Amino acid sequence: MKTRTELSVWTRLLGLICVIGLVTQVTLAQANITVQVDKPGAPVPKTLFGLFFEDINFGADGGLYPERIKNRSFEFPNPMMGWTKVDRSEPKAQLHVFDQGSIKDTANSHYVRIKAPAGNKGSGLTNEGFRGIGVEKGAEYTFSIMVRRVDGPAGHLRVEINEGDRLLGEARVSNFTKDWKTYTATLRASDTSSKAGLTVLLEGEGTVDIDMVSLYPKDTYQNRPNGLRKDLVTLLKDMKPGFLRFPGGCIVEGRYLDQRYQWKTTIGDLDERRLIINRWNTEFNWRLTPDYYQSFGLGYYEYFLLSEDIGAEPLPILNCGMACQFNSSELAPLEDLDHYIQDAIDLIEFANAPANTEWGRKRAQMGHPRPFNLKMIGIGNEQWGPQYVERYEVFAKVLKQKYPNVQLVSSAGPSPDGERFDFLWEKLRALNADLIDEHYYMAPKWFRENAGRYDNYPRTGPKVFAGEYAAQSVGIASPDNKNNWECALSEAAFITGLERNADVVAMTSYAPLFGHVDAWQWTPNMIWFDNLRSYGTPNYYVQRLFSVNRGTRLLPVLLDGSNKNGQGEVYATASLDEPAREVIVKVVNTAATAKPITIDIAGPKRVGKTGNTFVLASSDLKAENSLDNPTRVAPVERQITVSGNQFPFTLTPQSLTVIRLALR
Ligand code: AHR
Repeated sequence: MKTRTELSVWTRLLGLICVIGLVTQVTLAQANITVQVDKPGAPVPKTLFGLFFEDINFGADGGLYPERIKNRSFEFPNPMMGWTKVDRSEPKAQLHVFDQGSIKDTANSHYVRIKAPAGNKGSGLTNEGFRGIGVEKGAEYTFSIMVRRVDGPAGHLRVEINEGDRLLGEARVSNFTKDWKTYTATLRASDTSSKAGLTVLLEGEGTVDIDMVSLYPKDTYQNRPNGLRKDLVTLLKDMKPGFLRFPGGCIVEGRYLDQRYQWKTTIGDLDERRLIINRWNTEFNWRLTPDYYQSFGLGYYEYFLLSEDIGAEPLPILNCGMACQFNSSELAPLEDLDHYIQDAIDLIEFANAPANTEWGRKRAQMGHPRPFNLKMIGIGNEQWGPQYVERYEVFAKVLKQKYPNVQLVSSAGPSPDGERFDFLWEKLRALNADLIDEHYYMAPKWFRENAGRYDNYPRTGPKVFAGEYAAQSVGIASPDNKNNWECALSEAAFITGLERNADVVAMTSYAPLFGHVDAWQWTPNMIWFDNLRSYGTPNYYVQRLFSVNRGTRLLPVLLDGSNKNGQGEVYATASLDEPAREVIVKVVNTAATAKPITIDIAGPKRVGKTGNTFVLASSDLKAENSLDNPTRVAPVERQITVSGNQFPFTLTPQSLTVIRLALR
């Protein structure tokens, strides 16, 4: 029998346990995440998380397209832009630019003539590259050049990679003929430099014409000639993107219609791709980039190949007869849209038709007899107004009849709400549009507050393509915007809402994708690079965590019993990875404090004893990654032990956490 004292100790102990229980219960009740595994929802589209590529910020030439020579064919309006004359002897040689444009219409009408006198020790020109030329110690580069001998012995050209007086590689090409021919040589870099130049010199007497000067890394993605920059493609592939939208963005539209992106001029032999100005060249007075042109070395064929390489559905966006409405707003008359529509038809044929058809043959000749299986195209970029609807309608009528299985992406304009937005949604819904592209470049707070944006969207009719979004730390188009943790964390909170509504939101992509640290016009961007290095921003890691942990079927999530997202600064979404038989829970804690929560995997299925977590966090909302510190904010993987279907978990302050649990 227990004594009085013993009893009172037990009573007090019991009381204490009850109090602790109560406290725990209160804490749990405040942050309890219930994942309803027994109520699986809609399938998660494979395209939910994808990529938006635009040739902005030197994203193509000088970026993903690793040609080291800027203005390689002397076709910039100033044919010598990027080039400087070099003469190593007296008397000096003559160097002139010739234009055969008046003789025949060609995409590549300019070339350079070097006429050197007897005793010439080296005359020619140096290319500055894209804010320098990047070479890596021990790596090999293919130099190529078109040459024709005009007169004299004109024995050979000497080629050098140099940084100031430092010679980093050299080669020779010789035996020139009277006809244009391409000559190649391999240069191995003796040291690393991101700011080198390439010099081409005629040594000895004679006259030669030169054109299409190229220095190309051998080490490209898949080691392809004319292939893409390996580190950048790897960053993209690591995201397991569901789609790749290309080539933009406003670049599709052009400032004027004659500067619009025309896909047909971007395929075939490199020297037949017609260069145009990049519309970002002059867009922002505070970030003018007079040397920004599009060589189209990265053209439509390469975009399709890239999509295939990274396992993404290609999504080309076509001009619909409208130039950028922030610039000229030039319109192609409605009755003259045939040419634009024919471009769309021919593009679908180029991508999908058998190799024995007109356009399929062109694809096959470029090296891809198999169709690319294009499933969707965009009609116009960020257009608005009745002018857009009228034009979309004409496109849709023809394309839907001819290719009923090709999905059409249409535009909701540049803002996430307002008159233009409402007008477009109403009209496009009435037209039975497939996918409507919404853009939001908003403050971080907007992203946190709009995690429920799609909760009440109609469940029938057009699907949403959140085609361009990024939190702006200062304001849209401000050069002071940063890719900081506050922006990325706010986007993570918002993305939980995109995923929870994946029955309505079919596709999403952050924009823009790339920025060259020395040559950008727009910030923030998901991936930054210089001539040799690159890094993913915190925003990149948010996207990547969501994308690689996408799951195949939605699971309803309750926060403290409610299906309202973002309560108590906690945002959550969950899905089932059916092939892997795993539950995936993604939780965002925007609070500056740790949050103890209980996770309840509700339903008859038992969870395994261990799980994997990926935590992306920083106590500093201003934290950014950089070339020198590329993973300051990067996910940390950890194994956890779970006590059962209901288990306690502590959310790190200011974090995105992904939890993967096996289902037995
Ligand atoms: O992503 C940068 C630009 O923002 C895109 O080109 C355009 O579509 C939007 O206005």
